[in-house]
Amino acid sequence: MIIRKLNINEEAPMNLLLLADPSRIIVEEYLQRGECFVAESEGQIIGVYILLPTRPETVELVNIAVIETQHGKGLGKQLVMNAIEEAKLKGYRTIEVGTGNSSIGQLTLYQKCGFRITGVDKDFFIRHYQEKIFENGIQCRDMIRLSQDL
Ligand code: COA
Repeated sequence: MIIRKLNINEEAPMNLLLLADPSRIIVEEYLQRGECFVAESEGQIIGVYILLPTRPETVELVNIAVIETQHGKGLGKQLVMNAIEEAKLKGYRTIEVGTGNSSIGQLTLYQKCGFRITGVDKDFFIRHYQEKIFENGIQCRDMIRLSQDL
């Protein structure tokens, strides 16, 4: 598997990106403002993430996703670690990530990759999404913010 930047004229893997965020409008905005990276194996795109500059010296990891048939094989971790390395190479001092209060696996993954919880954006998913979201039997209401110094 290789992880590489999406080429300029290459179509972004929208189905994969929508696994991480159900809002096409938000995903398209991230694609315009950020840099998209893809994981490719035997000619197939199997993973994706976007690095989104947010403030001076700070970048956010958004829209990380792995195709469902490949979950649980360590690819998500490889993508997160690759995003951290890319952010370092680009000279950022801080990398942030946000996930839902109900996203137990994602919270595990980010903390295993060195992120620490910095805050809670209460009712973020109620304010920004029309449909109610449930995961692991919990309603997704709040965004848990995590960060790591580079
Ligand atoms: N409970 C406990 N631990 C979990 C877990 C869960 N539900 N899900 C993952 N983990 C842990 C794994 O045990 C692993 O730790 P280890 O390396 O010590 O064994 C670590 O997290 C990484 O797992 P990995 O196999 O690399 O993750 P993955 O390839 O399945 O990818 C996602 C993780 C989140 C990218 C993938 O599930 C996905 O694409 N989900 C849909 C999109 C999404 O939700 N994106 C994030 C938006 S915030």
